[in-house]
Amino acid sequence: MTRFSRITGTGSFLPPRRLTNADLVADLAARGVETSDEWIVERTGIHARHFADDAMATSDLGFEAACRALDAAGRRPQDIDLIIVATSTPDMVFPSTAAILQHKLAQLDEDAAGIAGAAAFDVQAVCTGFIYALTVADAMIRAGNARRALVIGAEVFSRLLDFQDRTTCVLFGDGAGAVVLEASEQPGIRSSDIHADGKHVGILCVPGHVRNGVISGDPLLKMDGQAVFKLAVGLLESAARQALAKGGLQDSDIDWLIPHQANIRIIQSTARKLKLPMEKVVLTVHDHGNTSAASIPLALDHGVRTGLVKPGQNLLLEGVGGGFTWGAVLLTL
Ligand code: UT7
Repeated sequence: MTRFSRITGTGSFLPPRRLTNADLVADLAARGVETSDEWIVERTGIHARHFADDAMATSDLGFEAACRALDAAGRRPQDIDLIIVATSTPDMVFPSTAAILQHKLAQLDEDAAGIAGAAAFDVQAVCTGFIYALTVADAMIRAGNARRALVIGAEVFSRLLDFQDRTTCVLFGDGAGAVVLEASEQPGIRSSDIHADGKHVGILCVPGHVRNGVISGDPLLKMDGQAVFKLAVGLLESAARQALAKGGLQDSDIDWLIPHQANIRIIQSTARKLKLPMEKVVLTVHDHGNTSAASIPLALDHGVRTGLVKPGQNLLLEGVGGGFTWGAVLLTL
């Protein structure tokens, strides 16, 4: 019998502090940086984003999203044997945010302590991280190496932003999204397609790192927005087409496109290339901004909880980001 993996529950969490464009514009003006609500809305479609308070770590956001996904799946932490966290903003250099999050779940109650021993690791593919993590979890489940996985995208990107650089600091936000992925006789995940090309490292990166106890290089986000934009549109189409071909479905079989939420113009042009009307695209970029690895599971959970996205529908998830990385997952919910 062929073994597949299937999403049985979704969850997400946004930190309570919400900054509208007006809030951010005022904050930046006080720092001598000029921007406007009009520019941000026209160029990106973003109206607001959420920023985590200092006390909140990536694992805290991921924990909340994971609890909600477990509730939705009717599962408890002790039912999970694999945890993968996609993040570029881990709590520590090591151990993984997944291990830290596992312990938070284990402390919920005596039974939940049974999650200790589950495999736990992070995946680092920036904004494509959740697509990579889902691909790895699906492969492990199909190979019989796991039965029930928590796959989480969680980020505190606000901490990487240079608030003197208006070309980047208006674009990003914090948040987390999660799914429970379980072994199933029915698909589930139908196909996935992931790629990277390291020659583009310089167009989207945080070059700094810790060396001998001090930060070496610039620890804030750098992006050549136009270069990223141009690459993203073509790569998203190609990943979508390859996932569809591998999964044996056509453009017209897609009920919902759930893209990485970086810029409404990138999303519109991908939808156009796939001949999908915008009514078939789940959108959260207006209220979340770009939350990197969290953006796709956040959008998925938004679609599910608002009743737009329903069991039995075909979803195409796709992402693109630093590395350069890109990829897509085709699934039936
Ligand atoms: O998650 C990973 C993927 N990341 C992305 O997908 C981001 C992809 N890139 C983009 O979304 C867009 O390139 C941006 C939103 C970053 C920028 O939009 P754009 O239409 O490519 O603008 P631009 O960089 O060509 O800049 C146009 C103008 C420039 O002024 P001049 O040179 O025309 O006088 C910028 O200096 O807009 C100016 N500008 C701003 N003005 C007001 C740039 N940022 C701002 C700002 N407020 N925040």
